[in-house]
Amino acid sequence: MKKINLRHPLLLLAGLGITAATLFSCNNQSTKTEETSTTTSTTETDSNMSIQKESFGKTKDGTELQLYTLRNENGMQVKITNYGGIVTSILTPDKNGKPGDVVLGFDKGEGYTSDAYLKSGPYFGALVGRYGNRIAKGKFTLDGKEYTLAKNNGENHLHGGVKGFDKVVWQTEEVPGQQALKLTYVSKDGEEGYPGTLTTEVTYTLTPDNQLRIDYIATTDKATPINLTNHSYFNLGAGQSPDALGHVLTINADRYTVVDASLIPTGELRPVKGTVMDFMQPTAIGTRIAQVEGGGYDHNYVLNNGDGSMKLAATVYEPTSGRYMEVMTTEPGVQFYSGNFLNGSLTGKGDIAYKKHYGFCLETQHFPDSPNQAKFPSTILKPGETYHTTSVYTFGVRK
Ligand code: BGC
Repeated sequence: MKKINLRHPLLLLAGLGITAATLFSCNNQSTKTEETSTTTSTTETDSNMSIQKESFGKTKDGTELQLYTLRNENGMQVKITNYGGIVTSILTPDKNGKPGDVVLGFDKGEGYTSDAYLKSGPYFGALVGRYGNRIAKGKFTLDGKEYTLAKNNGENHLHGGVKGFDKVVWQTEEVPGQQALKLTYVSKDGEEGYPGTLTTEVTYTLTPDNQLRIDYIATTDKATPINLTNHSYFNLGAGQSPDALGHVLTINADRYTVVDASLIPTGELRPVKGTVMDFMQPTAIGTRIAQVEGGGYDHNYVLNNGDGSMKLAATVYEPTSGRYMEVMTTEPGVQFYSGNFLNGSLTGKGDIAYKKHYGFCLETQHFPDSPNQAKFPSTILKPGETYHTTSVYTFGVRK
C-alpha cells in the first residue's frame, strides 16, 4: 500500500510501440501567484498556464461549489470540483489535434446533486471512499470487534455508503508551481459505520507529459479499512462514438476475483486465459461482452506484479479518434466496469444520453470485500501508518 516506485511511463509507452512524438509533449512549469476574485479567477503560473476557479452551483443545503481547471500547453485540460472531488471533464486532442472531452459527467454542479442522479448512482468521476467497491452485508470484524456499515446496495455496502466521499464537500488548496489541486476531507469516527477519524488528502496533478496523476494519502486515529479510487467513466471517442464497445483494451492481469450473484468475491482468483475475461492481448470491449454474465464486465482484475510498485494496469485505444490512454498504479487491482447499469436516463455534457456501455471505468484499487477475505492483500490502515497510493492516467494518440 505504501511502497512507490515510479518508472517513467514514456519508457513503457515506447515498449508498447507508442513513441514520445505521439504524445503532445511539453515541459513548462513555473510558479503561481495568489488568486483574488470570488466567482471566476485565474491563478497565473506563467503567460500560458493557469488554474482557473469558477462557481459550480450549490449543494442542496446551500454550500457553494467550485470548479477548478488544470491545463497544460498541449491543449489538455482537466476540470475538478470540490464536490466529491469529481473530475467533471478531461479535454484531450484526437489524432487531428481536435480537443474532445473523454469522460462522462455534467457541466453544472446540479447534475451531480439532482435526485435523478443520486437515484441512479453512477459515481461519475468521483473520489470513492472510505472503501471502493463492496463490503459483504456491510459487516466486518477488526481486532475482535464487529462493525456494521451503511447498506446502500441491496444487503451490501458499496463505495463508502449512503454518503461516501463522492458526496461530501472537500477543502481545496492549489499546489504552488504545478497544475495541481489538493483536496482534503476529514471523515469522522463512526461515519457510515467506519471506525476512527480518517484524514484524507488527494492530489490531482496534470503534468506537461499529458498525465493525470492522482496521489491518495490518509492517516487515521483508529484502525480502519480504506480503499480509495477514482470512478471516472471514459469514452475516448469524446461524443463521436455511439458507445465504448469499440475501444481496444488491454489489462495487465492473468487473474481476476470471481464474484457471486451480488458481486461479492468468493475468494477464488481465477485465471483469465481462454475465457471472456482475458484482456492480456488488445481486445475490443464489445468482442465477447454478450457472453459475460450480469450484462457486462464488472470485475476486479488481479494485476501482475501487484507488489505495491508502480506498474501498468491497462491500456485503451479508440480507433476512430486515435486517442490512447494508459493506466499505471501502485494498487494490486483494477475494477473494469463496462457501464452495465447506465440506462439512458441521465443526459450529460453535449446532450448525450448515457446509455448502457456508453462509458467504462478502470478503478485502480485493492480487492472488493478485503476486510472479510483474509487471503486478499490487507486494506487495514492503523494509527501511525500513512496510506499512500498513486495512479497515473496518460493520454496520447496513435496516428
Ligand atoms: C461497481 C459497479 C457499480 C458501479 C456504479 C462500480 O465500481 O463495480 O457494480 O454499479 O461502480 O456504482
